[in-house]
Amino acid sequence: MSHPNPTATSTAPRSAERPNLAMVFAIHGALTRDADLMVACIADLQPQDRVGRIPALCTYFAKFATQLENHHHHEDVVFFPALSAKVGAGAMAFDVLDAQHHALDGAIATLTSALQTLGDPRTGFVCAQQAALEAAQALRTRIGEHLTIEEGVAFPLYLDAISVTEHAELEARVQAMGTFEDLTFMIPWLFDTIPAPVTRRGGRRAARVPTGRVRRSSSGLSQPQPVPDGARP
Ligand SMILES: [Fe+2]
Ligand SMILES: [Fe+2]
Repeated sequence: MSHPNPTATSTAPRSAERPNLAMVFAIHGALTRDADLMVACIADLQPQDRVGRIPALCTYFAKFATQLENHHHHEDVVFFPALSAKVGAGAMAFDVLDAQHHALDGAIATLTSALQTLGDPRTGFVCAQQAALEAAQALRTRIGEHLTIEEGVAFPLYLDAISVTEHAELEARVQAMGTFEDLTFMIPWLFDTIPAPVTRRGGRRAARVPTGRVRRSSSGLSQPQPVPDGARP
């Protein structure tokens, strides 16, 4: 008589039985991309950008901050408690992740204030630009540090401990929290993370974020600059 092999399931294709975290990776990708772009964009600003570009950048950054805050809220009230209940808070570095979320709140507030000062014509431009640049660099660093722990420690545990069905239920709770207004920004924001070969197949209407000087006029991350049609992938 044969006995069940307790490790038998390990031979099954794990991708078929594990939660699909594509959405959260897309969010992390967009956060990382824009943190990099904020640094590059602020370094590129000129005093004349106090009309047009900097106000647009402030508007865009507020939307970015909302996406980051929403994502952290979903993790704080849905995903992290579910994982902690399975594996324990210590194993998933809950306290570290929670502290990083709070630190990121502070980094967002600092950069928001620095951008407002940078756009104020009553302040010295050079000093305000340096302060905004340092705030953007700090935000980028904190995002990178946070995602290293989250993706390196919590995600592998999540994939092992949370079933596909449980993940679908958690995702449904998160989707129920969303607003239409948030989605109208979020969907194209995430779409920018799709690799160039995919956007090429998806047609020319896909937004894109070029390297170097940013030209995505709808984002406010740069001066509106027309991109020659023939230059699109
Ligand atoms: Fe996250
Ligand atoms: Fe997080």
